[in-house]
Amino acid sequence: MPAVLCTLPLPDPFTERVSPAASLRVLGRIPDHTDLCAALHEGAVDVLCPQLADRVDAAVLDAGLPTLRGVCVYAVGYNNVDVAAATERGIAIGHTPGVLTDATADLTMALLLAAARRLVEGDAALRAGEFRGWEPGYLLGMELSGALLGIVGFGRIGQAVARRARGFGMRLAAHGHHGVQVPDDLAGSVQIFDDLGALLAESDVVSLHMPLTAETHHLIDEEALRRMKPTAILINAARGPVVDEHALVQALREGWIAGCGLDVYESEPELTPGLAECRNAVLAPHLGSATVRTRAAMAELTAANVLAVLAGDLPVHCVNPAVAAVRR
Ligand code: DGY
Repeated sequence: MPAVLCTLPLPDPFTERVSPAASLRVLGRIPDHTDLCAALHEGAVDVLCPQLADRVDAAVLDAGLPTLRGVCVYAVGYNNVDVAAATERGIAIGHTPGVLTDATADLTMALLLAAARRLVEGDAALRAGEFRGWEPGYLLGMELSGALLGIVGFGRIGQAVARRARGFGMRLAAHGHHGVQVPDDLAGSVQIFDDLGALLAESDVVSLHMPLTAETHHLIDEEALRRMKPTAILINAARGPVVDEHALVQALREGWIAGCGLDVYESEPELTPGLAECRNAVLAPHLGSATVRTRAAMAELTAANVLAVLAGDLPVHCVNPAVAAVRR
């Protein structure tokens, strides 16, 4: 029977779907790099199901050879996997697009609303006994209606955020590294910015939804933050390293921008020194896809990817279809 190795256990229905077709081994922890290589050496593994925190580089892939045929990530983002090295070795990469779009867009709106209306700051003040009663100028925030939302990365999640924000009366703008495709239902409602700097300078809220690549690493750096309005809010529900967090802490402290809402961090799960002390930062612990329904759908899709690889096919959602030519 083929073998599947998971680092952490995946929710139902993963086990139920996969166990008739493969023996399932679960480490029950995020191993360090050496430990992950050792786990792959230990027994023949056909498919590895890592988590975002597992770095799957060439050494890990080599440790799985000659049996390793697939790496099926329990996430839509796969920046932790060396895709080129996998393709060279004939190893297919699967991921879980689509099923977490709505949950992630909802969480983005939660961050946006919380940051714009200073909810976390207010909650902290109330609990600390600092609330003295209603005052005309107390904790004033940004009204969303009429505000310009600049979306960087206008894929599935960016578009789902746009639909929600339109419901709040926001005006919409978008920038994409490789251009922007506007779907029919949003046609005419989105102002396209070819120049990221211009979008940053004009937006009241900037929301990041691009994948982490060499091109997008630290895309939001000191220069980018200094371009934003002092009243603006930055939202990041993509990947931590697209923002230079040291520069962000400075921006929040010195008022280059008004606030931020973050779900992801540069050195997750660590926070850059100073960030936790910024009252104008709303911080969520990577909860974008964290609903019961979405996590089950991700488990279902991961199982489908695994079963396809075990059957000799590409994963249902394959990141590197070029691997088919390498395998032949
Ligand atoms: C992803 O899927 O890439 C998220 O960050 C976790 O669900």
